[in-house]
Amino acid sequence: MAGNAPVVIAIDGPSASGKGTVAKRVAQRLGFHYLDSGALYRLVGLAAERARIQTADEPQVARLAEALDVRFEGDEIYLNQELVTDVIRSEQAGVAASEVATLGAVRQALFKRQRAFREPPGLVADGRDMGSVVFTDAALKIYLTAEPEERARRRYKQLIAKGMGANMAALLQDIQARDERDSGRAVAPLQKSSDAHLLDTTNLSVDEAVEQVLARYAAATQVS
Ligand code: CDP
Repeated sequence: MAGNAPVVIAIDGPSASGKGTVAKRVAQRLGFHYLDSGALYRLVGLAAERARIQTADEPQVARLAEALDVRFEGDEIYLNQELVTDVIRSEQAGVAASEVATLGAVRQALFKRQRAFREPPGLVADGRDMGSVVFTDAALKIYLTAEPEERARRRYKQLIAKGMGANMAALLQDIQARDERDSGRAVAPLQKSSDAHLLDTTNLSVDEAVEQVLARYAAATQVS
């Protein structure tokens, strides 16, 4: 245990499961900080593309991750002073993120950066390995998922709302490929750890999912 370290709620799960939206709302409701760890991998992917470094070049990409000049300001994200909030949400950036995320040295470089988000009064962190690697002593671990077709529908709506192009069949394929890469990699693969609560949101609204997480958090912190 981390002694008096601020409490953490870890929400992990596959691509487009809605973890980001749910995690952000849970953080708002509790007045906690929020870490979108996927954004860090997306930023590293984008930084590699900008620097014309191959996503498989482990030492070079790790160096980029180490030196990443990133600023989170409310809902906006800046990379080297450039506003990249929407740029990193493209499917292409998602694919690059999941490629650099397979590299152990990159994950290591981002480890400390992620832990630094743990500040009072608490943190809600979403990603793939929040509960299994980065915040193993989280007070509550949630594995949030949904059927692939529903996830493709959610991602479609998200991209269209941002004015980006999207194609359902291609999105479903991307999601399945990303699931495979994220679950099959050697380092910190995506998997539900035995101490995580499974939350299948296929038939849940965002509000219902948020309530379920809050209820589990209340239950988890009540008896101790
Ligand atoms: O929004 P979506 O779930 O599609 O992706 P994301 O959470 O922004 O993460 C993008 C990619 O970064 C994922 O496909 C993972 O490969 C990687 N990632 C990771 O490996 N570990 C994390 N803690 C978060 C993201």
